[in-house]
Formats: sequence, structure tokens, C-alpha cells
Amino acid sequence: MDLDATLTLATDLAREAGALALAMRPGVEALDTKSSPTDVVTAADKAVERLLVSALAAARPADGILGEEGAAAQGTSGVRWVLDPIDGTVNYLYGIPQWAVSIGVESSEGTLVGVIYDPVKDELWQAVLGGGALLNGVPLHCSTVTSLAQSLVGTGFGYDARRRAVQALLLPDLLPKVRDIRRLGAGSLDLCGVAAGRLDGYFEQGLSPWDLSAGGLIATESGAHVSGLRGRPAGYDLVVAAGPGIFEQLHDLLAAHDADADPLV
Ligand code: IPD
Ligand code: CA
Ligand code: CA
Repeated sequence: MDLDATLTLATDLAREAGALALAMRPGVEALDTKSSPTDVVTAADKAVERLLVSALAAARPADGILGEEGAAAQGTSGVRWVLDPIDGTVNYLYGIPQWAVSIGVESSEGTLVGVIYDPVKDELWQAVLGGGALLNGVPLHCSTVTSLAQSLVGTGFGYDARRRAVQALLLPDLLPKVRDIRRLGAGSLDLCGVAAGRLDGYFEQGLSPWDLSAGGLIATESGAHVSGLRGRPAGYDLVVAAGPGIFEQLHDLLAAHDADADPLV
């Protein structure tokens, strides 16, 4: 695969998709709910995914697609585009400027290209496997903090009430041991935050491939460690992303709570 051409295409698509989402924001309403009564979808989520899917069908007809709003194409090339048309839909709905379009391009080697575009802040996050990560063209470096007590740690909560109840149990132990915590509301941008040192670390259970694909690569390429617990890969069970100076401390605290145990099974 031509990684440069793929990065260019992903970037063009993310910008176009972000512009459409921004244009649809005024007067936006919840159209429907998905996995739970708090998991909303808007007309913009669906329209942005449709735009991405039709552009990819024209530009990369042999590639597969996996999109949050239902896009699924098997493809024949071994390459798959993993799309979150709007990550941070609840923020989008409420007019909180923390949402983005996320596009990851994957092969059997993992994510090769990741692009996240935040149209409100006009921030373009990009990474290519082995090629570093960029914010608006400037190389990114994750935090070098070495003390968990001095760390700002992001997290997120799933839409399922049973998962949330368990996720909340960790907070009384974590909160006194860190500088503070943030729940910013868009997992892809939380991972970008780690890449830029806006967060020292981040963890969340229950992320889907479209939340993690691009942001996981951007964080890794900034020098952050991104994985699950006890050597497992980052994924649905848990994503831990942090600068190398605190990764182990954050990991061990989460491991002590078995934070990767799924309360829904
Ligand atoms: C959600 C956001 C949120 C995270 C949830 C995700 P959506 O994605 O990334 O920050 O906590 O786990 O599902 O529904 O806004 O695309
Ligand atoms: Ca998402
Ligand atoms: Ca979404």
C-alpha cells in the first residue's frame, strides 16, 4: 500500500467529513438511541458516515470498511478503513467543542494510518506506522512526567449503566493518587490528548475499534505506551495509554482493580 497516498486520502476525507458535521450542527437533535437510552445517534452521524463510505467506494473499491453507524464491506485488498463519523456524539449534541471524525486504515499488521480531524478547533491529527505523529503538521511528543501523583489522567464511561457502575468503583482509589482526572467525552481525542501531552495518561474499558484505531496509532507514534493489562493488546477489555514515565504506575493501579474484567459477561 502507498502509505503517503493513503494518508492524503484519509486526511482529505476527514476534513470533508468534519466540515459536513460542523455544517449540520446548528439545531441538531437526537434521532435515535443505540446500545442504551443514553447512546444517541444524530442525522449528522449517519450523513457523515454515508459521505465517507461513498467516497471510499469510489476511491478504494477493493478495501474493506467498518463504520460505527453500520457500514460494513469485506473488501478484497486486505486493507480496512475503520470509521467513527463523529466521536463524541453527546458533546456534539450539547454543543461542547470536543468531538471529531476518526479514520483508521488497518491491515493484518494493525493500524497503518490514523487521521482524526476536530473541525471546531481546526486540529488535524495524523500518524503513519513508524513515521511519528503530527498535530497540524507539527511533531507530537507525549508527556515525560514520571510521577502518577503529578499526572492528569483521562478516562471515559460506557453507555451501559452496569458498566458505568463498575467503572465508578475505581475512582475513589484513583482520584487521590493523581493530579486530577478528566472525562472529556471523545475517546479518539483522549488518545490524541495523550499524544500531545494534554493528558499524561488515559484509560477506558469498552472502546470499539472505531474509537481506538486512529487514536491508538497517534498516541503510540508520539512515544506513548498503548496496551491492555498484563501484556494484552489494547482493545474492548481495556485501553491504557500513557507516557512511558507513568505507564507502569497507571497499569499496576488498574491491574489491582482488574479494570479489564467485563461486567457485562
Ligand atoms: C464514545 C466516546 C466516549 C467514550 C465512549 C464512546 P461516540 O463514542 O468516545 O468518550 O467514553 O466509550 O463510545 O458514541 O461518541 O462515538
Ligand atoms: Ca466513538
Ligand atoms: Ca460515533
